[in-house]
Amino acid sequence: MSDTEANYYGAYLEPLKQCETEILATLEQLLQPLNENQDETIVEHILSRIKSPESMQEKLRKKNLPTDATTALTHTADTIGIRLVTHFVGDVYKIQEVLRNCQKWKVIKEKDYIAMPKENGYRSLHIIIEIPFSAHSTLQAIQAEIQLRTIAMDCWASLEHQMKYKKIFLTLPY
Ligand code: GTP
Ligand code: MG
Repeated sequence: MSDTEANYYGAYLEPLKQCETEILATLEQLLQPLNENQDETIVEHILSRIKSPESMQEKLRKKNLPTDATTALTHTADTIGIRLVTHFVGDVYKIQEVLRNCQKWKVIKEKDYIAMPKENGYRSLHIIIEIPFSAHSTLQAIQAEIQLRTIAMDCWASLEHQMKYKKIFLTLPY
């Protein structure tokens, strides 16, 4: 049976949720000036999630690490994951610039799979930030992953992910 979020993340769960909310609020502030007007927002949609215990434990196992929550928070960068989906590729890089200049966090790593797509065709810009964590926790800071991509790249990635997950192989009609 899979672990619940509360069981797995324990005392980290509330600070994690708070941190996720803070990142989203900061993003909203940062993105506001980039919108042309109320109806033409630079970001088509935003998704965010705290990684499921199942998926986190699987990731840690693959890395041959202990599967507890403290290891998760200190040895992986995407316990908190945010995805920003834009209409145009140029907007991805405009957003990258404002993320780099934000005082609330530090950008510690960038992976540009748009300029250098993965072998399977995956395209996205991944930005890892380091952000202060809860005052009540022994952890001073945690990392979070922000993925930036266009709607087209997002459709492709979602399909590819589903196919990998469900191990479906498309058969072409001709
Ligand atoms: P993990 O893949 O998270 O273990 O870390 P990594 O160091 O390999 O980071 P990477 O930036 O390659 O991938 C991080 C995240 O990007 C993944 O968890 C996925 O959400 C997404 N991602 C990376 N590669 C692919 C891919 O080939 N297809 C899809 N659909 N998503 C991908
Ligand atoms: Mg990967």
